[in-house]
Amino acid sequence: MVPALPPTPLLQPLPSTQNIGDSIFPKLGQAGLDVLNYDLALTVARPGTPQIQAEVTLLLTATRPLPQIRLDVVGPTVSSVRWNGRAVPFRTDSNAQKLLVSLPAPLLPGVRGNLTVRYAGTPGTVRDPDFNFPVNLGWQSVPAEGATAGANFTLSEPNGTRTFLPSNDHPSDKATFTTRITVPVGFIGAASGVQVAQTGVSGGPQTFVFSQAQPIPTYALAIHVNKFERVESPAVPVGVGGSPVQRRDYFPLGTPQPTRDAYIRTAEMMRVLSDWFGPYPFSAYGVAVVTPPLPALETATLSTMPVSSSREPVALHELAHQWFGNDISPADWSDVWLNEGFATYAELLWAEAQGEDGQEMAARWWNSLDRGGTRPLVARRAEQLFDLSAYRRGALALHALRVAIGDDSFRTFVQTYAARYSGGTVRTADLLALARTQTGSAGEAALRLWIESPTLPPLPVVP
Ligand code: ARG
Ligand code: ZN
Repeated sequence: MVPALPPTPLLQPLPSTQNIGDSIFPKLGQAGLDVLNYDLALTVARPGTPQIQAEVTLLLTATRPLPQIRLDVVGPTVSSVRWNGRAVPFRTDSNAQKLLVSLPAPLLPGVRGNLTVRYAGTPGTVRDPDFNFPVNLGWQSVPAEGATAGANFTLSEPNGTRTFLPSNDHPSDKATFTTRITVPVGFIGAASGVQVAQTGVSGGPQTFVFSQAQPIPTYALAIHVNKFERVESPAVPVGVGGSPVQRRDYFPLGTPQPTRDAYIRTAEMMRVLSDWFGPYPFSAYGVAVVTPPLPALETATLSTMPVSSSREPVALHELAHQWFGNDISPADWSDVWLNEGFATYAELLWAEAQGEDGQEMAARWWNSLDRGGTRPLVARRAEQLFDLSAYRRGALALHALRVAIGDDSFRTFVQTYAARYSGGTVRTADLLALARTQTGSAGEAALRLWIESPTLPPLPVVP
């Protein structure tokens, strides 16, 4: 028996305490909402133009009674909303950047329901908080030019997914995805996960269906449309229990060899990283190359790699994010150094595996922070999310831990951390607590100094 609830306020904007309460992006997400799966059917009728047409069904549950669903959305026009198949009242609040949906009865914890949103039009604009990359996040459109086909893809970290997908757009609410991309004949659609179907009559539009069966944060969802060459490589047996990980890369037709060369050693990279981190957490890995000079992004199972970033260290970095970022995700954006620190440290581990001097690399990072300034690792403002401290000081924090406890304990610690939080989310405090229980107070102290010190701690040196 469930106690009676107060009457549902009909589509009233609720106080901001109803948001997830992210410390950097306080307006994102809905507290108490748990999206389990997004089943997205997306039509890109004219690749290279921004327009999309879509229907998404979110499988929802709640951790508190929710009379109203508030999804993050910026852009496309919503034409209908259904709850378990029945039309329900909805309203877009473009100021709050929310889609407000009134449920016939509150969604209660332990209960599931399907919310279907149909929408179409032009994706909205979300400015990148990283001032080094003055780009719009989310749905990207690359117009056709000469012999080059038009293309579209997602580039959403941190908060751009809501430009093309009404969603609980916060990494604390991870979900699985089914993505169905319909494109004109001659084009290829690709998304996070494994391709499970391609349908369509020959000579007509084709639908490519992908299943991402392990939960990922919304920002990590890859969707690509282009005239691609899909290159398959032998599976790599580094999945859970030594299971094979499917390998496929997507190169736009005409991608020159020097760009492709950055990805020749992917299988080797997967082996080296899984030696340090434990099994690769997903069923597939590869890259989709894009032409605009944007930052690379570790989109789940299919990293999005601009031609301008098609270099081995960047390829390695995005692969490392599959463990740290995609499988283990920050519960709050202020903790994003946990992604960037591990991915950057992976570059050092890879360099060492090539016979290079990791300590020298650490010293270079230290010098750059000494010159450029640094901050404690938990970010306080959006401009700090992807700054040098997140990457290099974050990496040096892990180096300090490794130097304090030795290689064997460090490997065990990292694998324990990766296994414990696989599929879930972490805060900086979780890493510190695990360091204390797994490595003792010396390990915890080394890490804590690098996380908290207002000044740059001394370069960690192996005694
Ligand atoms: N996570 C990406 C990487 O380090 C960087 C994303 C940069 N994001 C941004 N909004 N500029 O691989
Ligand atoms: Zn990164």
